[in-house]
This record gives sequence, C-alpha cells and structure tokens, in this order.
Amino acid sequence: MSETPLAQELTDNTRRLAAARAATVLKPAKTRIFTVSNQKGGVGKTTSSVNLAAALASKGLKVLVIDLDPQGNASTALGVQHQKGVKGTFEVLVDDVPMINLIQRSSTFESLYCLPATIDLAGADITLFEEFSNEERRNRLEASISTMLATMPADKRPDYIFIDCPPSLGLLTVNAFVAANEVLIPIQCEYYALEGLQQLLETIDRIKSNLNPKLRVSTILLTMFDARTKLAGQVADEVRKHFANEVLDAVIPRAVRVSEAPSFGETIMTYDKSSSGAIAYLEAAIEMANKGAHNG
Ligand SMILES: Nc1ncnc2c1ncn2[C@@H]1O[C@H](COP(=O)(O)OP(=O)(O)O)[C@@H](O)[C@H]1O
Ligand SMILES: [Mg+2]
Repeated sequence: MSETPLAQELTDNTRRLAAARAATVLKPAKTRIFTVSNQKGGVGKTTSSVNLAAALASKGLKVLVIDLDPQGNASTALGVQHQKGVKGTFEVLVDDVPMINLIQRSSTFESLYCLPATIDLAGADITLFEEFSNEERRNRLEASISTMLATMPADKRPDYIFIDCPPSLGLLTVNAFVAANEVLIPIQCEYYALEGLQQLLETIDRIKSNLNPKLRVSTILLTMFDARTKLAGQVADEVRKHFANEVLDAVIPRAVRVSEAPSFGETIMTYDKSSSGAIAYLEAAIEMANKGAHNG
C-alpha cells in the first residue's frame, strides 16, 4: 500500500527526529561567539538565535544569548524578565556593569541563559557616542564578553554565545561584529532575499580589515522555506550557488508553531518539540556544532 504524502511526511519526520535526538554534538574547544545579523528585519534572526541556542542547550551544551535588539524579542522567547527597569545589555554597554551579574537563566533549559534587552537599548547608540571615544565605543561588547570569559572557571564558560542583532548596521551591530568570531546570516527564502546582502558582506569585510581580523561568515541558514512555492526553491538554489560552503544543509520550514512559541515565553524546542520547525532547528544546530567545533 502506498502512503499518502502526509503520511509519508509524518514517517520522515519521525525518522529525522529520532536521528537528531540520537546525534551527539561536539563541544567546542573554546567558546564560539556568533553574531546573528542581517540588516533586513523579519528574516528570522531572533527566531534562529533562540531556537539554535535552545537546540544546543537541549544537547547539554552551555549557551548564552545576548539580546542586542531594543525590541527584546529574544528575551521574550527565552522567558526572561525584560520589562523597563530590568538591567541588561544597555547597562553592560554603557554603565560597565559586569555581564555575569545581569545574565538570567531561561525558563526552559538549565544550561540556556540570556542577557536581556529592554527598550532602553534604543538609546544606546546615542549614549555610546556621547560618552566614549571613537575607538572605545565599538569595543564595549567585546570588552565585556572577554572579561566575563576570562574570569569564569573553564567548566562554567558558555560553549556558544549568540548575539541577536537589531535590523540595522548601526553601532550596536558593529559592537556585535567586533565581539564575535563568526557571523550567522539567516536568509528568508522570498523575493529580494539577496538584496542588501552585498552591503552586509562589505560591512563585515571592513570590520575584518579594521577592527576584528578573526571575523568570518561561517554559516548561512535558509529560513521560512515554503516547499509549496517554486520561488523558495529557486532562492535556495541561488544562495547555495553563491555560498556553497556556508549554507547549512538543514533548511528551516515556514511553520506556524515556530511563530507561536514566543508568546508563551518558549522556543520551539519545548513548545512543540516534535514539530517540523523543532526538527529543522535541531538538525541545523547539530550541523553547525559538528562542522565548526574544531576551528571555532
Ligand atoms: N520558520 C518560521 N515559520 C513561521 N514564522 C516564522 C519563522 N521564522 C520566523 N517567523 C516569524 O517571522 C517573524 C520575523 O522573525 P524574526 O525572527 O523576529 O525576524 P528578525 O529577528 O530577523 O526580525 C516573526 O513573527 C517570527 O515569529
Ligand atoms: Mg529580531
């Protein structure tokens, strides 16, 4: 008896989920620091930051998400306090508060932490301009992360740090590029997916030459893939043609459950852990971890 497409998909998902659950992930030799950026809004930066982080935490790794967007969407999805008055990224960047003092544990995984962002962060650009020299103001995040890592015992240090960037190439994003070793670019499989990518890559090149020689675009993740449209497949092919080594095999499908999770203060990894979105993020996280653990 031949299976219907839906039954076939369910069997596939069951098999993929079992494989992903059974897979082991390598622990990186030292903390891998990713900035998740794309100056376009709504391409899946925050969704990818929190779900990849949760997927790695579900494998037992220690993960920190730094919310660098005044919207605070990553903080929401990780179920941490970030209402006005809560101290977070702003105080770290502007007031020299040690990061370790302001990090909160996520509501869902024991080894998943978040430095929250409040709306105050919207004023950080201006304050940094007013209070710090040209050189200093770009290095604030890097300095804070380095101090934290240097003062933590090795067995407590995060294996992964994800910096969730706002949709711009302003001073906050520059701080993220200076602090990171790797850039993860989420690309939405839609019209104009590649528009603006050149500008992003040029900015990264400039940072690499002038401020952070170790920065590299290591990972590109295709998000919100809709298998029913021909366009999504064409966009995916185009991106793979240009970035053969960087694009992950795992592709994140467009799935309503993924977009619902944050309103419950959860990631898809707990909100609906057997769903297609959870499987895809878990596969992407495993691939990232095992591809880059040695050279991070
Ligand atoms: N795979 C997905 N399937 C369905 N909706 C998604 C998916 N990824 C993201 N979304 C939704 O798309 C919107 C933009 O995603 P988000 O991660 O916030 O983008 P960004 O951080 O780049 O602005 C959000 O409402 C989010 O819930
Ligand atoms: Mg976002």
